[in-house]
Amino acid sequence: MPERAAPGQPVSGNVRPARSGDVEFLVEIDGLVNVSPWNSRQFAAACDGAVESTESALVLEHRGRVCGFIIFSSVLDEACIHNLAVHPASQGGRFGRSFVTAALEFMEQDGARRCLLEVRESNTAARGLYEALNFQLDGIRKNYYPTSTGREDARLMSRQL
Ligand SMILES: CC(C)(COP(=O)(O)OP(=O)(O)OC[C@H]1O[C@@H](n2cnc3c(N)ncnc32)[C@H](O)[C@@H]1OP(=O)(O)O)[C@@H](O)C(=O)NCCC(=O)NCCS
Repeated sequence: MPERAAPGQPVSGNVRPARSGDVEFLVEIDGLVNVSPWNSRQFAAACDGAVESTESALVLEHRGRVCGFIIFSSVLDEACIHNLAVHPASQGGRFGRSFVTAALEFMEQDGARRCLLEVRESNTAARGLYEALNFQLDGIRKNYYPTSTGREDARLMSRQL
């Protein structure tokens, strides 16, 4: 079980490109947090070594265990976040903040100048994270996501890198 960073202490996790051997952990984490989880084929397509993939994956490791992932694509100077998660046992410990910050630096070094994403209106934690990292609201996509009771809006956000 992944751990939380000690309160007030800097996160000591490492960020690295995902390998094919990480796929089972990404599927496990996503299954715990995502109402529409991805399958292993979708994650494998983003992992290191995948041929002709437009997506990239980074993982966050803490004490030798994968405790988070981010999947994104880059086209010209724009990067787009497609999926992001921190293991529930590690949430609220500032892993997400340091992980996304590191991922944005990675995207910038890879040539991106802007990062875009979509987030569910009801996703308070992710919205808080993105706002804390200076993402701006660009617009609303009405009724974009399915929910157990109907549909909900997507918030379209972006920031310069
Ligand atoms: C969104 C997610 C990645 C955040 O990771 P985390 O490690 O828990 O977040 P952090 O502890 O680094 O928090 C960073 C900031 O996010 C915001 N935040 C985090 N949890 C929050 C919550 N429950 N409510 C409101 N804001 C929250 C705060 O602004 C926080 O800053 P602070 O520490 O100064 O208060 C994590 O909750 C997660 O994996 N959620 C499920 C998957 C998901 O929603 N992915 C995003 C899809 S768009």
